[in-house]
Amino acid sequence: MACLPILVAPHPILKRKADLVTLIDADLVRLMDDMLETMYDAPGLGLAAPQIGVSKRVIVMDTARTEEDRNPIRMINPEITWASDEMKSYEEGCLSVPEHYAEVLRPQAVRARFMDALGKTLEINADGLLAVVVQHEIDHLNGVLFVDHLSSLKRNMILRKLTKARKDEEE
Ligand code: NI
Repeated sequence: MACLPILVAPHPILKRKADLVTLIDADLVRLMDDMLETMYDAPGLGLAAPQIGVSKRVIVMDTARTEEDRNPIRMINPEITWASDEMKSYEEGCLSVPEHYAEVLRPQAVRARFMDALGKTLEINADGLLAVVVQHEIDHLNGVLFVDHLSSLKRNMILRKLTKARKDEEE
C-alpha cells in the first residue's frame, strides 16, 4: 500500500464529474487500499478518488473512533437512492480544504447503493456521522466540495485563503 498526496482546492480535478467504474481489477483494488492508507494517515473519515487525482467514482470511509474499531468501507459507483426529509447540520471539514470547517445542512439519513470490491451490488442505510460522510464523499464524485454548500461569500473567502497559503508556501 502507498500513501498518496492529496489535492487541495482550488484544483480542476476536484471540480470534475468523476467517471463510472466499468472494470474492477487488481489496480482498482490497490487504488482503494492506497486511498484507505492515505485517509488513515491524514487522518480523515473519508476520501474520494478525485482527491488523489483519480477521476473515478470510488470512495472510502471509516467513521470508527479508534484504531481498534477500524471498519473500512469501500464503495464503487455509489449513489444516493433515498434521503430523509429531516435535515441536520454538522460541522464539516475536508482533506482538500485543510484547516477550514463550516456547518453544512444535509438530509439526516440516506440510503446508498454501491458495488463492493467483488462487484456485488449492496445498499446501506446511514444516519448520523456516516450519513454526513457518505454524502460528502459522493459530492466529491460530482465535483462538489462542502464549501459549495456555503454562501459564495464564505466559499470565496476560504478558497482565497487556500490559494494564498499555497503561494506563501511556494515562495
Ligand atoms: Ni472532502
